[in-house]
Amino acid sequence: MIHSGISASVMSRGMESFLWFLQIVMVVVLILLHHTHQTCDTINNNQIYCTPSSCGKITNIKHPFRLKNDPTSCGDPRYELSCENNMTVLPLFSGKYYVKSIDYKFYTIRLVDPGIQEGNCSSVPRYFLTTSNFTSSYNYSYRGDPYEVGSPPWVGHVLYLNCSKPVKNDPMYVDTSPCIKWNSKGHVYAIANDFNTGRLNVGCQVKLVATSSDSSLFKNFVNNISQPFSYAEIHGILNYGFDLTWVRRACEDFCDTNLQNCQFNGEIGGLECELDYCRTPLGKFVNCEHLSKVRIFMEDIILGIVKGNILSF
Ligand SMILES: *[C@@H]1O[C@H](CO)[C@@H](O)[C@H](O)[C@H]1NC(C)=O
Ligand SMILES: *[C@@H]1O[C@H](CO)[C@@H](O)[C@H](O)[C@H]1NC(C)=O
Ligand SMILES: *[C@@H]1O[C@H](CO)[C@@H](O)[C@H](O)[C@H]1NC(C)=O
Ligand SMILES: *[C@@H]1O[C@H](CO)[C@@H](O)[C@H](O)[C@H]1NC(C)=O
Ligand SMILES: *[C@@H]1O[C@H](CO)[C@@H](O)[C@H](O)[C@H]1NC(C)=O
Ligand SMILES: *[C@@H]1O[C@H](CO)[C@@H](O)[C@H](O)[C@H]1NC(C)=O
Repeated sequence: MIHSGISASVMSRGMESFLWFLQIVMVVVLILLHHTHQTCDTINNNQIYCTPSSCGKITNIKHPFRLKNDPTSCGDPRYELSCENNMTVLPLFSGKYYVKSIDYKFYTIRLVDPGIQEGNCSSVPRYFLTTSNFTSSYNYSYRGDPYEVGSPPWVGHVLYLNCSKPVKNDPMYVDTSPCIKWNSKGHVYAIANDFNTGRLNVGCQVKLVATSSDSSLFKNFVNNISQPFSYAEIHGILNYGFDLTWVRRACEDFCDTNLQNCQFNGEIGGLECELDYCRTPLGKFVNCEHLSKVRIFMEDIILGIVKGNILSF
């Protein structure tokens, strides 16, 4: 009895120091893990340097963009542009749009439908495009669109309608004649506004929708007036083009990969990573991205040992 009592006490002493040793090992491992994360962050932020490419008026094609035939290590293949007859071309869904400008400060790109010719009011958009083509515009958890509609940059719509009868008393319906003649029977109208379907006249069909970010498109809305446009003005609104944002891609470079929240902050004029904070079992607040299952498990073990010690002695 006495003998076994002594050996039990010796064993618990041995166990005690072993547990202390285990705790020290855990703490060291945690510190090492933390350092590994920091090293990864700096690697992520390093980008391979490539000289900017140019095509026609666009002379600043650089990361994440790349021009077809650029070295493969330059830019991101999802942001590949091509050069066709000195026009920079961007594939967007089933269409191909001309690039008017790329803004690396605000992470936007301005596109114009290739059907629109400046000063030729008979030229109409080639593609049907609304903000609903961008899944991310209605499904906020969808991250598959390389380009997204922002807020700002705003994107509004221009609609073309074919009406069986003339629309007389609605200033929103802008007569497109003599510029556009689709059919001798129908009357083609354009509406430059975000459309309220309640105002779709009987006998009119939406034939084409195009997008624009021209500020005059939003003046009526902001000032709550309905100043009618002329068709020449609507054509100019389309010729201005529309802005899309690639800020989500920029965030991948700027913040940790897979970081949930990053946005352009107009006040600081740059990107801002919004860290999601999580609480570890030991009560430390850390960026959720740095909180691994392994760390939670190990901290639980440490807590378990502490609790076990308190309970058994
Ligand atoms: C493109 O522009 C360059 C320089 O402005 C000119 O030399 C060339 O002929 C143009 N190519 C086409 C296809 O228009
Ligand atoms: C946008 O979506 C509409 C409806 O699904 C489709 O007909 C159109 O081709 C799409 N636009 C582009 C540019 O792919
Ligand atoms: C204007 O656009 C129309 C429709 O695309 C086209 O048929 C016509 O040739 C263009 N006019 C000029 C001067 O380019
Ligand atoms: C929204 O996007 C997420 C992520 O791609 C997807 O799992 C989900 O099914 C989408 N929901 C709808 C309604 O499209
Ligand atoms: C426009 O409407 C007229 C009359 O409703 C119709 O005959 C014509 O085919 C339509 N044109 C187009 C391009 O839809
Ligand atoms: C906008 O103007 C209309 C009349 O022109 C008015 O009835 C409406 O209340 C106004 N809306 C706002 C938000 O001011």
